[in-house]
Amino acid sequence: MDLKDKVVVITGAGSGIGAATAKLFAAHKARVTVSDIDVDKANETVKDIEDAGGKATAAQTDVTQFKEVAALIAQTVDTFGQLDVMVNNAGIGGKHQLKTAVHDHDDWHQVIAVNQTGVFYCMQLALRQMTQQGHGAIVNVASLAGLKASGNNLSYSASKFAVVGMTKSAALEYGRKNIRINAVCPGFTQSALLNQLLASSDTMEKNLLRMIPMGRFGEAHEIAEAICWLASDHSRFITGQTLTLDGGTSL
Ligand code: NAI
Repeated sequence: MDLKDKVVVITGAGSGIGAATAKLFAAHKARVTVSDIDVDKANETVKDIEDAGGKATAAQTDVTQFKEVAALIAQTVDTFGQLDVMVNNAGIGGKHQLKTAVHDHDDWHQVIAVNQTGVFYCMQLALRQMTQQGHGAIVNVASLAGLKASGNNLSYSASKFAVVGMTKSAALEYGRKNIRINAVCPGFTQSALLNQLLASSDTMEKNLLRMIPMGRFGEAHEIAEAICWLASDHSRFITGQTLTLDGGTSL
């Protein structure tokens, strides 16, 4: 994959899918801004990248704060001169096992703020820079929960359907500007976020594994491969699409 010297920003890159994606871009010789609300975790990812001989810098960014996202893009452009790839990965799972009639309002607002408004802010600011420079690729991390119904977590479902909708609508607007916008839709993938879901009941792990034809959870680096591919020129005629990585769960 030709990602050499591409300038990449990844949100939520201190852990899980974001960290694996940052490491894979760096292994392909991209220059990566590792952004997370938790700067200690972002620094850990940067250290792993540097120990492996790659190039990265850390940034503390809460994607729900427009000014912080603006500072993230500005810092990246100041450091590296441009922004080739924006990976909007930061996300939270919200409270599980609540039916809609009793869904907690604070949880609703928090999940929508991070998973939906955060992606909007990041896309908007990345697009301002990419339009100016005349090229770019955005990859949003949606979810299988953005394509299919999933009970007992309406805020997460709403936010991820929104990410898919924003991906397609923005792709329509920016095709002629040489900017591609796609999304990955992972199924259940090993990470801190999945662990929260597994902890919500004793039978959860068994029940989830029963739903996956391949009989196992995904691994963060498997999702990272797809993100890097969608950001690379190998997928240069693809825009506004979702790529499902779920071991067959959606079947
Ligand atoms: P994770 O919990 O390991 O990583 C999420 C990262 O986002 C953390 O480092 C966290 O500090 C950061 N973060 C949280 N709120 C933030 C904010 N306001 N601003 C900036 N960073 C923030 O979770 P995972 O699984 O790696 O999740 C990454 C993305 O993948 C999320 O968007 C999630 O919804 C999505 N996803 C995950 C699946 C799974 O089964 N693990 C399945 C489908 C989608």
